[in-house]
Amino acid sequence: MRTFICDLTRAQLAAAGVRCDVALCREDLASAHDCTGCFGCWVRTPGACVMRDSLGDLGVLLARTDELTVVSRMTFGWLSPLAKRALDRSIGYLHPNFRIADGQMHHRLRYADHKLTLNFRLYGPSTEAERSCARTIAAANALNLGARLTGVRFPSNEKSAGTENDAPAVDAAERPVPARGVPRRVALVNASPRGGRSATAHLLGDLAEALPVYARMAGVDAPELVRATVRDVGALAGCDAVVLGYPLYVDALPSGMVDLLVRARDELASGARVYALANMGFYEAEQIAPSFSVIEGFCTAAGLCWSGGVAVGAGGMVLPVAKTPRMGMMRRGVSEAIDQLIMALLAGANAGAIEVRPPVPRFAYRLAAEAQWRHLAHEHGADLDARPADAG
Ligand SMILES: Cc1cc2nc3c(=O)[nH]c(=O)nc-3n(C[C@H](O)[C@H](O)[C@H](O)COP(=O)(O)O)c2cc1C
Repeated sequence: MRTFICDLTRAQLAAAGVRCDVALCREDLASAHDCTGCFGCWVRTPGACVMRDSLGDLGVLLARTDELTVVSRMTFGWLSPLAKRALDRSIGYLHPNFRIADGQMHHRLRYADHKLTLNFRLYGPSTEAERSCARTIAAANALNLGARLTGVRFPSNEKSAGTENDAPAVDAAERPVPARGVPRRVALVNASPRGGRSATAHLLGDLAEALPVYARMAGVDAPELVRATVRDVGALAGCDAVVLGYPLYVDALPSGMVDLLVRARDELASGARVYALANMGFYEAEQIAPSFSVIEGFCTAAGLCWSGGVAVGAGGMVLPVAKTPRMGMMRRGVSEAIDQLIMALLAGANAGAIEVRPPVPRFAYRLAAEAQWRHLAHEHGADLDARPADAG
């Protein structure tokens, strides 16, 4: 079966002469909800989402699909908010338990015997950096989904022999001058759909608490901190620095955050510094790097200054150890990384990519996480291994 996930309308897809068995088009994606990060598709109704909208059975649809094509406008190096919404809602296709692939942690496949091929078509102008970022994330998605990647294409570039639809290069004279010195107003954006209950909220809270202490020690005025979620694009107005806090979703930014970036393009002052504070469920923090490239793509497009960030692996540990001492064994790595980020912020400097090594070995993290999934499924009377696609 051939399935299309496509952020164009049904009419546009038909006009392009596409033939497929199932197409989830702009109309279907726009009427659906963003993933809320509840993991109900793993521990309450395994394999299906608890939200019964047009994407509620996407995991089941993927299990019946032989060839999946994702069509999306190129957006800072990856998918548009609507196409990303669909991928974020697909994780019921996977099993919450882990496997090691290419030396890294990934999810087990709920439908281990299923063969899926995957290809992406990212239309619209793009830079070489964006195309390279897209190829990296597409490969990561294929690995995660246990799928064979058959292509990442950039249609408008191909049609125009690879040049005309290149996004215009930024002239050196037009490049924004990065904000220098202590910022006056810093937005702390929590882009986790889990809001105040998220690991992201805790990490940003820790930064907000430590920042005035460091400012005092450095003898500078602490910047005003503005708290925002992905819905508060207006809160970014007039900020000369922003810290984007988010969880990694399907190897990239959560859909709501992509939507925020699209809307925020004109809100921040030119040259404002953009930092990231990201966490993820898998163990290896380096899997966050491609999402940093997407933020860098946003900065290039919006005339902002990408200034690096912190990548926290084994994010499932952040909340369970939140009440232990800040510089104790379980939190020290994350706390020191946040302190480094604060110092870069206060100096108006680049933080680089700071990857935090988890405080426990990978096998211990894996055992604890899998025990937690089993416990949650048991609480909900659910079968973690259910395969709703087999049910007909
Ligand atoms: C839809 C969805 C997709 C996810 N994709 C990934 C992923 O690709 N890699 C990863 O390491 N973790 C992934 N996770 C796990 C989250 O990154 C992890 O649970 C994180 O700690 C949540 O942080 P928060 O509490 O700040 O939202 C995903 C979670 C959800 C709900």
